Amino acid sequence: MIAFSYTEWVLIYILILLVAILIVFMMERHHNMEIIRDLDEARDDSKKYINDLDNLLSMFTHFQEIGMTHPKTDDLQKLCDLIIEYATDLLDTKMGSLMLVNKSTNMLEIVASRGLSEDIIRSTKMYVGEGIAGRVTQDGKPIYCEDIDKDVRFMRHSNVQYTSKTFISVPLKIKNKVIGALNVNSDKKDRKFNQRDLRLINILADQAAIAIENIQLYNDMKEMYIGTIETLAKAIDAKDPTTRGHTDRVTKYAVEIAQEMNLPEKLIRNIKFASLIHDIGKIGVKDDVLLKPGKLTESEYEDIKKHPLIGEQILAPVEFLTNVAPLVLYHHERYDGNGYLEGLKGEEIPIGARIINVADSFEAMISDRPYSKEMSREAAVKELKDESGKQFDPKVVEAFLRILDKKARQKNKKLEDDYGKSEKKDKVS
Ligand SMILES: [Fe+2]
Repeated sequence: MIAFSYTEWVLIYILILLVAILIVFMMERHHNMEIIRDLDEARDDSKKYINDLDNLLSMFTHFQEIGMTHPKTDDLQKLCDLIIEYATDLLDTKMGSLMLVNKSTNMLEIVASRGLSEDIIRSTKMYVGEGIAGRVTQDGKPIYCEDIDKDVRFMRHSNVQYTSKTFISVPLKIKNKVIGALNVNSDKKDRKFNQRDLRLINILADQAAIAIENIQLYNDMKEMYIGTIETLAKAIDAKDPTTRGHTDRVTKYAVEIAQEMNLPEKLIRNIKFASLIHDIGKIGVKDDVLLKPGKLTESEYEDIKKHPLIGEQILAPVEFLTNVAPLVLYHHERYDGNGYLEGLKGEEIPIGARIINVADSFEAMISDRPYSKEMSREAAVKELKDESGKQFDPKVVEAFLRILDKKARQKNKKLEDDYGKSEKKDKVS
């Protein structure tokens, strides 16, 4: 047996002590490293969370701008596209859909999506209560689906390849009313959604639902308002038996001219609407003046001349009629500046108003009125040509003459065809 001296024993003891200290130090260090790693992870996590919340805030601001501050009809689609883009971005995926309940069919339909084919978008329709989105809409509660293959609630499309099996569907809810569902799929095999994702998407869906509802309410109100004004305009039209149907015919001519002139779709819509209500201001003109069969006195004529202004005053306060009101206000201006109300000249008069002026005047010329006899079409066309550059915008007259010419040729061709057919028939018989 090896015998150690006292000094050696001391050295061995010190060595063992040092090794023990080293082991304790290493363990402590490892533990500290773990803590640091955990802290780093927690810091990264909270950074991501703060970042997500930051994103959410800017998304809400955007929704607010579209859906609350100045909602417009066209904004609903824009808003839905934005919601799906934000929802998928938030959960770091490129696959999702936004479904809304169609009020007339009571079925859920995809109104905006990402990563889905046109075919799927068109064909996916489900009743409230059906499938996952249907259940979410019915119950108003979110569903987190870990594996769509194993979930019997999931309505699969055989032609869709789902990369990941994780799926979240949250209701679009305002108080207790559910208007649809927001669905998000993970597009990565190894990315599974978690409770935090569910919470985030729920917060987004709540704000999105309010913005959607706001635009829908605005659209409903707008349709109701338009309906009321149209009814009112028709009532004015019907009040005078000699002008009955005048508005519809003026609208038809005005839209045809605007299309012939290749005006933008939005402007054509405004022209159509302005034509339908161009004489709405006559509601403020006394019946005995409006329906007077004979010649008007000077003061009566002055009263009649106020109708474009009264019309504009009715329409202008309504935000979505802002672009329609000037067409009503200026529909009696003349190209040469001798019209009323403001004596605008040439292109100072909005193009829509110049078109309505031609359509309105032509319709009046070929109609029998108490104060003027019905003109033949030929005489009315001659009048249009004579007044081109005076009362009427020459470009508008040219476009209208092209339409009338086309129609006359079509009519002649039909007459010739009919005549040909009847001749053939006579020969056979
Ligand atoms: Fe008028």
